[in-house]
Amino acid sequence: MTHPARSPLFHSNRFAQRFALTTPIALAPMALASGGALAAACAQAGALGLVGGGYADLLWTQREYALATELLQHDAVAQARLGCGFVTWKLDEDAAALDWVLTQKPCALMLSFGDPRPYAARIHAAGAQLICQVQRMDQVPQALEAGAAVIVAQGGEAGGHGANALEGRSTFTLVPEMADYLSAHAPDTLLLAAGGVGDGRGLAAALMLGADGVLVGSRLWATAESLAATGAKTQATQTSGDGTARSPVFDILRRKHWPAPYDFRAIRNDLHRQLEHDVAGLKAHPDAARADYEAGVKAADFTRAHATVGEAVGLIADIPTASAMIARITQQAQTLLTK
Ligand SMILES: Cc1cc2nc3c(=O)[nH]c(=O)nc-3n(C[C@H](O)[C@H](O)[C@H](O)COP(=O)(O)O)c2cc1C
Repeated sequence: MTHPARSPLFHSNRFAQRFALTTPIALAPMALASGGALAAACAQAGALGLVGGGYADLLWTQREYALATELLQHDAVAQARLGCGFVTWKLDEDAAALDWVLTQKPCALMLSFGDPRPYAARIHAAGAQLICQVQRMDQVPQALEAGAAVIVAQGGEAGGHGANALEGRSTFTLVPEMADYLSAHAPDTLLLAAGGVGDGRGLAAALMLGADGVLVGSRLWATAESLAATGAKTQATQTSGDGTARSPVFDILRRKHWPAPYDFRAIRNDLHRQLEHDVAGLKAHPDAARADYEAGVKAADFTRAHATVGEAVGLIADIPTASAMIARITQQAQTLLTK
């Protein structure tokens, strides 16, 4: 198996070194999108491949993680770049999927949205590096107490769940502030930027802001290997960055009971626009809207069903393979950084 070589530019990059990557990019563990095929393709392309364990469904996690392992069975280098991510507050209900993944010797385990400390000991005991995704400075001490090897600073531009408008931050200010904090208080802890990184300009900018690398969701969601629906991907290629919104609307429609302060960014489609002005009313009387949404999902009608992407959707114009996408981001960043 031939692998891309690490560019001289990234030779001394701490994130690439720590995980034996050729480029300082991690695939975000996107629930129901980052399946085994996408994680394996990213690992082979030289990035960190995190399977989207999401809501910790045991059978889904077992199937997709096993697929990634099988696809990489003759490629030990790429297999050593496989990991998994979970929504932390869901593990508080049932952590069987985490415990199973840890038997598979992942190189990294990423936790987001909740207190990572109850799970830290078993993750470390399994030999995995703990990655904690946070949205605010005041969540960093908890992640450090859990022994995070990597902290992901997620800005509100991100696709999927993140902190709401009251509590959230933007990537552009959160990353340098966190870089300063880590360099003063935990200099060995690595920092990734997440939220809005859709091309090589985003990677180069994140490195300039003090991050060691980037965690990419939306742009890798829009690739051939992603499990996202074809109609959703097509809609993304036709949507500008103005066309997403962060709100609890789709969580209410999907019966997902997310705790504060989190809500959800996706394409602001017709159904969202109908419902977004009366979220309290939707919460109180969700049945008719849920029926409409569920019919939309069944019919793959994305004017009603949701497409989960962030503001980087404005940078999505095609659906390449993951390896082509990672090469494109890497090369563009290299060109910019060597200019
Ligand atoms: C489709 C989709 C699903 C996501 N699911 C999860 C998840 O299950 N767990 C998680 O920690 N983050 C999840 N995220 C958020 C990512 O971890 C990451 O913060 C985000 O994608 C970065 O911003 P970007 O989308 O602009 O690249 C998801 C993002 C997307 C787009």
